[in-house]
Amino acid sequence: MDKIRIRGTRPLHGAITIGGAKNAALPLMVASLLTEKALILDDVPRLADIATLSNLLAQHGVEIGVEGKGSGSRVMTLTARDITNMVAPYDLVRKMRASFLVLGPLVARFGHARVSLPGGCAIGTRPVDLHINGLTEMGAEIEIDSGYVVARAPNGLHGASVVFPTVSVGATENLMMAAALADGETRLINAAREPEIVDLGTCLIAMGAEIDGLGSDTIRVQGRSTLHGTRHSVVPDRIEAGTYAMAAAITGGTVELVNAHLEHLTAVAKVLSGAGVSVSPTERGVLVSRANGALRGVDVMTEPFPGFPTDLQAQMMALMATATGAAMITETIFENRYMHVPELMRMGANITIHRSSALVRGVPKLTGAPVMATDLRASVSLVLAGLAAEGLTEINRVYHLDRGYERLEEKLAACGADIERVKGD
Ligand code: UD1
Repeated sequence: MDKIRIRGTRPLHGAITIGGAKNAALPLMVASLLTEKALILDDVPRLADIATLSNLLAQHGVEIGVEGKGSGSRVMTLTARDITNMVAPYDLVRKMRASFLVLGPLVARFGHARVSLPGGCAIGTRPVDLHINGLTEMGAEIEIDSGYVVARAPNGLHGASVVFPTVSVGATENLMMAAALADGETRLINAAREPEIVDLGTCLIAMGAEIDGLGSDTIRVQGRSTLHGTRHSVVPDRIEAGTYAMAAAITGGTVELVNAHLEHLTAVAKVLSGAGVSVSPTERGVLVSRANGALRGVDVMTEPFPGFPTDLQAQMMALMATATGAAMITETIFENRYMHVPELMRMGANITIHRSSALVRGVPKLTGAPVMATDLRASVSLVLAGLAAEGLTEINRVYHLDRGYERLEEKLAACGADIERVKGD
């Protein structure tokens, strides 16, 4: 297995181009199931999760073509004309939870689907009850059979008023797609407001759906009997941007994040400026700099958008590990998202966990170590710690990084990091 090797303490200087968002591209690819016409997506990132979803969609019968090689933008064309298989098997859904998003579109367009329950996940139990309850309210008959969700709606789905008890990105996406082909109006109340939801909704509108309230907590969808194809560009990845912002900050460097949207990073920019990091817009994106002065400890709580994203919590903790003073980091979205903590502590961080909060007391320096992590964002937090640490850090299980970061080592090395991928067997 490949490893990433880093020799730390080099400030990053330069520009990093932010790619299309993984968490937007995945639901957009699934939206191709809603029409027999071609959906063309620009700026699809090259990531393991995208390949996993391509495999799932291909086995349903979606034809997928990809253009654009090398590091440039990639165009994906998905055509769901001949959907032959309504089963999303355990082997593929277990690899990646976002696969569960096929449930709503399949049942809405074809009247039945059999989708594996996602099963356990490294960052908590992550149930799918909100997806299932919402589809039931829209008229699907759902039962669980041998670990699979079996959904039937022989006469199609109908509109409904669905009130989410908690904000869920995935459930909002699943139901928004299903509602686009349902009979009548669906109201999603306490819906997620993430930029990836807005991106999906914008694409659905271009496919002929009638949707309003995107970006607010109430989304209204008027169902259509059919949708058509369109061409849509995937929104830039705010989590990739936030990660490299923290990489610049932890090394005391200055990096321009080309294509990043500052309005998608408002909560992150506020926290970073409280920590002594300057974040400002440029013509091409966002400039992040900690040229002068030490990092200060600041408290952070993860929340649904527009709050601070849980997908940047681990990276923020690495940053706070080297700050002056203490930081209280509270995770409110997932119940078990501190797997990076023991590994950061092996690099010299001083962290105490109490229930859903972690008290991080900044230390003057981190030291390199062999480390590994069990999920994507935890792994990248160890890369950040490695960039700031004295000596050699070796990160194992690089496949977690490949799920969500395209050419990570190239992008960091181009800004002066001493980082390399060591090929394994
Ligand atoms: C998405 C993101 C993930 C991010 C998360 C929160 C994708 C592909 N993944 O995941 O990177 O960390 O949003 O921003 O976009 N919940 C339930 N029942 C459900 C669904 C969710 O209780 O049916 C709970 C979850 O356990 C969690 C919370 O709701 O505590 C939020 O989860 P959700 O927003 O659904 O996350 P995902 O869509 O899986």
